[in-house]
Amino acid sequence: MRILVTAGPTREYLDDVRYLSNASSGRMGYAVVEAAVAAGHEVVLVTGPVDLPPPRGCEVHAVETTAEMRAAAVEAFPHCDGVVAAAAVCDYKPVERVAGKMAKTGQPITIGLIETDDVLAELGRTKAGRWVVGFALEAENPRENALQKLRRKNCDWIVLNGPAAIGSADNDVQLLDTSGTTIAHWAGTKIDIARQLVTWIESRPN
Ligand code: CTP
Repeated sequence: MRILVTAGPTREYLDDVRYLSNASSGRMGYAVVEAAVAAGHEVVLVTGPVDLPPPRGCEVHAVETTAEMRAAAVEAFPHCDGVVAAAAVCDYKPVERVAGKMAKTGQPITIGLIETDDVLAELGRTKAGRWVVGFALEAENPRENALQKLRRKNCDWIVLNGPAAIGSADNDVQLLDTSGTTIAHWAGTKIDIARQLVTWIESRPN
């Protein structure tokens, strides 16, 4: 198979030196890439900025902003069999990016934020015969929220994990299908979980 993977955080700039982002390490997505390459698949990785060495044996598109991640993913997806969307996309961006560096005023300031593009939702809308695996990072009502996300973004399956996954080498996840059934529960290192996910994708029901 040829598999698209999104990984890592994105950044949204307030001015030329400051940005909004999150604490994603990119490890889960990179582990999926490693497991998929080791299993003999072609992989296209679209990655936000992370402190990890680029994985071997795959096509890498390094991006910074959500708009860049969207553009690279939308271009790659038609040439792939499916996508694993492990990126921790920055959901909001400043209404405008100030050129240069905002100087202090001595007063509180208010920054207006608008939602960024939803990369996975767009891939889900345009998936045709391709399979789509999303991730859901949930703090409260995890199953209901993950299932709503799966449906809203037109995923086939969603990997539910919690905030403890951020920046950690380990994870504890459930794989949910469109009916809300838990079809797998995996705990261990992110690479162990990634291997099981790839094995599961290889034998997935159509
Ligand atoms: N995702 C995406 N583009 C976004 C937001 C999320 O592609 N702008 C993808 C993530 O890569 C993940 C899934 O959507 O596969 C769910 O991400 P998550 O952060 O859990 O959910 P959000 O859609 O951001 O919703 P919320 O922050 O309200 O929980």
